[in-house]
Amino acid sequence: MNEALRSLQNFLSDQIRMHGPIVPLDPPKSFTQKIMEIVDPAHPVHGLNSLNELRDYVSSTVLTPIDEDRTNAVFGEGNPSADIMLVGEAPGAEEDRTGKPFVGRAGQLLDKMLAAIDLSRQDIYIANTLKSRPPKNRNPNPDEISAHLPILYRQMSLVDPRFILCLGLVASQTLLGSHDSLTKLRQHTHSFYGATLLVTYHPAALLRNATWKRPTWEDLKQLRYLYQTK
Ligand code: URA
Repeated sequence: MNEALRSLQNFLSDQIRMHGPIVPLDPPKSFTQKIMEIVDPAHPVHGLNSLNELRDYVSSTVLTPIDEDRTNAVFGEGNPSADIMLVGEAPGAEEDRTGKPFVGRAGQLLDKMLAAIDLSRQDIYIANTLKSRPPKNRNPNPDEISAHLPILYRQMSLVDPRFILCLGLVASQTLLGSHDSLTKLRQHTHSFYGATLLVTYHPAALLRNATWKRPTWEDLKQLRYLYQTK
């Protein structure tokens, strides 16, 4: 054995004596694994292994009182293996009537926003934080959000997107566990269990305040750039 090899062998023997045997590192966890680790291990969503099973569970289960008053649950739709997932707040009247996300006025504007960055509904997956319409479109309350959040997490784990675009404050604050303003949250991208999360204005807010259209356009261009390059 040559000298260099003998010295390496001695070095390794010393290391093993001092630190114990060399064990392989655990492989890095995927987004899918990491996101499901934040859901209570006893929650039934762990046993639902497709978007269809999850959709059936949502439409047949009352998780919070507003689920009893809905016409339809609005589960979400789009490309089931999309790289980009959009997360809104909660269904409105038109979504409750049809069972589809973002089909009212805000949804029509969202389609135009997507087209401006050369994306369509077929390219992305869209879901809401809440799957049921809050009465009179009031803001979701914390109990409703906690009851429905495991559904969104399971949806995310099944779609496994690289990018998540939060539309508005409710989705952004909920996913980031933050009380910061939208202005602050949209200042940079966030790492979300390994996916890249961006924050922008809700299309319904743009219908009320046109001055937010310019910053929203900047956010969308950023998403498009990252999607193409990362
Ligand atoms: N607003 C939302 O946040 N989601 C919808 O599906 C419709 C309007």
